[in-house]
Amino acid sequence: MLKKLFSREDIDNAVKKLASLIKRDFDDEKIIFVCLLKGSFMFTSDLVRCINNPSRVDFMRVSSYGNAMTSKGEILITKDLEENIEGENVLIVEDIIDSGLTLKYVSEVLRKRKPKALKICALLDKRARREVEMEADYVGLTIDDGFIVGYGIDFAEQYRNLPEIYIVEKD
Ligand code: PRP
Repeated sequence: MLKKLFSREDIDNAVKKLASLIKRDFDDEKIIFVCLLKGSFMFTSDLVRCINNPSRVDFMRVSSYGNAMTSKGEILITKDLEENIEGENVLIVEDIIDSGLTLKYVSEVLRKRKPKALKICALLDKRARREVEMEADYVGLTIDDGFIVGYGIDFAEQYRNLPEIYIVEKD
């Protein structure tokens, strides 16, 4: 059973708050937004529409092994960026931080490419689940443990199309 956790209004407010913090930090500089597929596609499309800086959008996909409800082991890049990020302001856009393993891996990989700045923006942060030290520079909403779907986030590839965010409850 799905129970609504965040409405469209909650999400819009969080996105607007994040956009204004990002805008304040980057001023009018160019930003390369790195959308981590697949979960961040909806969040990225809303966020970039709130930031009118000169910008580029690129996509990266990593996959991790483990089953759907638990956390990950090894992480692999299955789709890399097309942009050269050396000397650029880069903002990683992530839907949710759970164990922190994905962002730790991605930020380490991207840092080696020598961007001018590398920041992380996460819509949702499940702090209690962290397995490695990882703090995003911008966090929209902090949540408790629980399985989340909607607004790009899936359960076995379902529910990504839901416009709001739901928590999956056992029947
Ligand atoms: C989910 C989510 C984050 C990551 C967070 O992605 O979108 O990228 O897990 O978990 P972590 O902090 O424990 O690493 P997933 O690997 O399920 O891929 P998807 O975005 O394609 O659904």
